[in-house]
Amino acid sequence: MPARTLRTQVGIIGAGPAGLLLGQILARAGIASVVIEAQSRAYVESRVRAGLMEHDACQQMRDAGVGARMDREGLVHHGIILRFGGASHRIPLTELAGDRHVTVYGQQEVVKDLIAARLDTDLPLYFDAPAQAIAGIDTPHPSIHFRHDGADHILECDIIAGADGFHGISRAAMPAATMRVFERVYPFAWLGILAEAPPASHELVYASHDRGFALASMRSPKITRLYLQCAPDENLADWPDTRIWDELDTRLADTGAPALSRGPILQRGVTPLRSFVAEPMRSGRLFLLGDAAHIVPPTGAKGLNLAFADVHVLSGALIDFFATGTTTGLDAYSDTALRRVWKAERFSWWMTTLLHRFDAHSTFERRMQQAELDYLTTSRAGMTTIAENYVGLPLL
Ligand code: APR
Ligand code: PHB
Repeated sequence: MPARTLRTQVGIIGAGPAGLLLGQILARAGIASVVIEAQSRAYVESRVRAGLMEHDACQQMRDAGVGARMDREGLVHHGIILRFGGASHRIPLTELAGDRHVTVYGQQEVVKDLIAARLDTDLPLYFDAPAQAIAGIDTPHPSIHFRHDGADHILECDIIAGADGFHGISRAAMPAATMRVFERVYPFAWLGILAEAPPASHELVYASHDRGFALASMRSPKITRLYLQCAPDENLADWPDTRIWDELDTRLADTGAPALSRGPILQRGVTPLRSFVAEPMRSGRLFLLGDAAHIVPPTGAKGLNLAFADVHVLSGALIDFFATGTTTGLDAYSDTALRRVWKAERFSWWMTTLLHRFDAHSTFERRMQQAELDYLTTSRAGMTTIAENYVGLPLL
């Protein structure tokens, strides 16, 4: 059977936060798009990921008309706790970062809200539709070849947005000769759990302990999200529930703070830590955004926010392009987005390096980490540098 041919203005590969928000902003500006997603709707809506939104990322949701549930159910945070040496040190984010705050709202909730908004439009979103090839990116009409319902389809567009995550096909479709890749793979991973237990602290706790890093986060007043630094090849079978809770108690210990409440573990997984940037983020009519172009370790909670910042730059450039034909914004997209990407990469790498246990470290290097933590938490300048990066650098 010959492939069925469809046409749109912007072909979007991937229904993660990046692809969905882009489609939503473009729809509100009267620009047509088709979103192609390899997985099922149930799969993308239940995929548990990080859940911390920068101040401006929340505003992007509101501006796109999808902020209502986030504003009702999201938890606004004005500070975080750094814990080391058995004591807690609060970083007053809002006080130090120009009255800005962060919001705890699970990434899959963001995805659910954006999918619901998309389905309210008459613009297509295909699930179970893996993109298999990208063609003609150096022509005015590039195309995406994808499978859906047992048939081959060709989507012809003016622009392709590659928002298909780290393992998608878009980055691989960029010409290898002009692409540079920068990468750091860390010698550890995070073991994460979602548990039915009230959070012990109202604010997120980032703990640096001799046995390794731990993080206490949350999703609601009844659900905690907790992480432990572990080996990159850690076997979950070696971690019965009691071992996970005991290790969290040890690493998150603070004589002045309440112990963790334990409860049924609803979900668990091991996530590797990686820093990665591909440059440039554009070739011809193909534009990369989100995890397709860059990965950060989760320590600074920047992954989703960085994807949203890319959408901010690209959507503005596309709206100008379709309104007037100008390519000025599109031509500047990669350089503009990368300036902010690199700053978020720096912050995520620095937080990771500051807070984790490195087996290769000497006792001297461990003392340097401890001295830096002591400095940061006793200096207004030190706390301010954390606060302004954590709530999010300005969108460009
Ligand atoms: N065809 C269609 N869809 C694809 C393909 C393909 N060949 N390959 C991957 N995808 C889909 C994935 O199934 C996924 O739903 O692309 C989507 C990419 O979404 P994300 O991985 O969530 O990436 P992004 O939208 O850039 O969001 C970045 O996600 O990984 C987290 O921490 C990261 O929070 C950050 C955010
Ligand atoms: C989360 O709640 O999942 C979370 C929060 C902060 C991080 C990473 C993950 O730095």
